[in-house]
Amino acid sequence: MAIPERFIEEVVARSDIVDVVSEYVQLTKRSGSNIFGLCPFHSEKTPSFSVSPEKQIYHCFGCGKGGTVISFIMEIENLSFRDAVALLARRAGMELPEEDEDKESTGRRKRLLELNRQAARWFYDNLSRPEGADSVAYIRKRQLTKKTVTAFGLGAAPNQWHMLTDEMIRRGFTQQELVDAGLAKRGKGGGVYDIFRNRLMFPVIDVRGAVIGFSGRILGDGEPKYLNTPDTPVFSKSRNLFALNLAKRSKRGMLILAEGNVDVVMLHQAGFDCAVASLGTSLTPEQARLMKNYTENVVIAYDSDAAGVKAAQRAIGLLEPVGLQVRVLRMEGAKDPDEFIKLRGADAFQILLERSANHVEYRILAAKGKYDMDTDDGRLGFLREATEILAENQSPVEREVYARRVAEMTGVSPEAVINEVDKALRIRSARDRKKQEREVMRPEITAQPAARSIRYDNVASAAAEEGLVRLLVADPALTDSTAGLEPEDFSSPFLGRVFDSIRKRWQEGREITPALIAAVLPPEEASHFTNLCQRPVSIASAREAIGDYIDKIKTEGLKKPGADLLAVREQYRKKKGLGG
Ligand code: CTP
Ligand code: MN
Repeated sequence: MAIPERFIEEVVARSDIVDVVSEYVQLTKRSGSNIFGLCPFHSEKTPSFSVSPEKQIYHCFGCGKGGTVISFIMEIENLSFRDAVALLARRAGMELPEEDEDKESTGRRKRLLELNRQAARWFYDNLSRPEGADSVAYIRKRQLTKKTVTAFGLGAAPNQWHMLTDEMIRRGFTQQELVDAGLAKRGKGGGVYDIFRNRLMFPVIDVRGAVIGFSGRILGDGEPKYLNTPDTPVFSKSRNLFALNLAKRSKRGMLILAEGNVDVVMLHQAGFDCAVASLGTSLTPEQARLMKNYTENVVIAYDSDAAGVKAAQRAIGLLEPVGLQVRVLRMEGAKDPDEFIKLRGADAFQILLERSANHVEYRILAAKGKYDMDTDDGRLGFLREATEILAENQSPVEREVYARRVAEMTGVSPEAVINEVDKALRIRSARDRKKQEREVMRPEITAQPAARSIRYDNVASAAAEEGLVRLLVADPALTDSTAGLEPEDFSSPFLGRVFDSIRKRWQEGREITPALIAAVLPPEEASHFTNLCQRPVSIASAREAIGDYIDKIKTEGLKKPGADLLAVREQYRKKKGLGG
């Protein structure tokens, strides 16, 4: 259920952005009406993160992130909108209103989380009971220490059909709750039985510290190796990562992505406290974005078998688009990080990490796999593709190294390959230059919002719409000069909604500030909107400007396919001075 708008406004009003941001960022430099500090969302040495006490918004001139106090908390604490509002409300001493229906689902979620918490505790306690003996033996065999077991809250699911269910029902949970939490299944006779049996249990703990699900590893060989909690009201496999609750506190400045939970746990035990794994699916776009909230760098440390290599290539394709720097570890002589560390030690792994191959190597090998290297055509096709990959690479040294490798693979001389790469580079930079020139000449292009969902269909119209909205926020009284303009006239539905909300607030005599308008927009809209508000506007001859903007919006609107014929005729008549 949505939180009432008024409540959100109250939270924003009571959460001064300077106070809140100061709890995370040292704001040191004043410049104009803004205060600057080092951006918490990207690494930098000179402050480009600005906070406006007056507009109650923030904006980073380095990475472009911006928004209100709510988006700041969402981003820095990795919380949902709702949770961010709740955090700020608590901080301001306000009670989050709960509607009835809402109360019910929150209540249900709370029960499931409590059930999970108690189950995790029970699995853990089993390690000191006879039923947990097999798991204890397995823990010893994998050389996991007591400290590791406690840090991860590992546990034992006994080789029994009802032990957990019986215990939790004795404690007052219902059969249905056990099923809903993904801990039990309904049997033929109508009763329920434990899903996790005879397994080493890994609780999955979210970034807020709640036990949301489990992975259970079979003790020894057998299928499936890992059993994971299905999606439940409190658990989504595709949106969480195992061990992120610990890895998010790491000081290593990266996340290591491994395949198996045992690998992750062993990595942490060896001091690589930034390791995470996905939860029984291949990596998802949501997980890539989640990682981006905590780091700029991901090192893939998947198994070294063919499946691992393939999975790594797939992962690169998801991690790079969200702006992460990706490197891939090559574990020579070991099948996975766990085995590598056991064979060669943590120091050797550290060296591996430092030397980790740029993913260029991966892409080259992948390209090679596509061609028949025994034919001239095949080698030529590969060479063409490989030079393109190399030309993307920023480092001349790396280009040279890999060009030599490609030369070996194709039997062409290294000089010839380097020559080809240089040619590709020249074409590329000419293309980039042209593109840049175009963008300078048509500044609307750069005004496209970062979020795909609100991309502008008609940039020329959107530029006018943005200009109009910015003027209205700067001087809400100008709203009176927009008579005849309707939200539907806007080419961007998002800007239309912003306009509508400003107009409504003006009519109702409510306060209009960038932060208040942005507070009730979805995060990506809020971010683009506050970025707009952060740019300076000139109020001089604002009324004329409003008129121009409206004209532009209306004429552009007429170009829309299917634009009302009558409207065209009316315009035509007006021009000719004919009148209605
Ligand atoms: N996997 C899974 N559920 C998890 C974690 C991993 O289904 N919660 C799957 C992965 O998709 C991968 C495999 O299990 O296919 C990873 O296993 P592996 O690295 O072999 O696991 P380990 O426990 O490290 O096993 P081993 O000791 O054999 O290396
Ligand atoms: Mn493994």
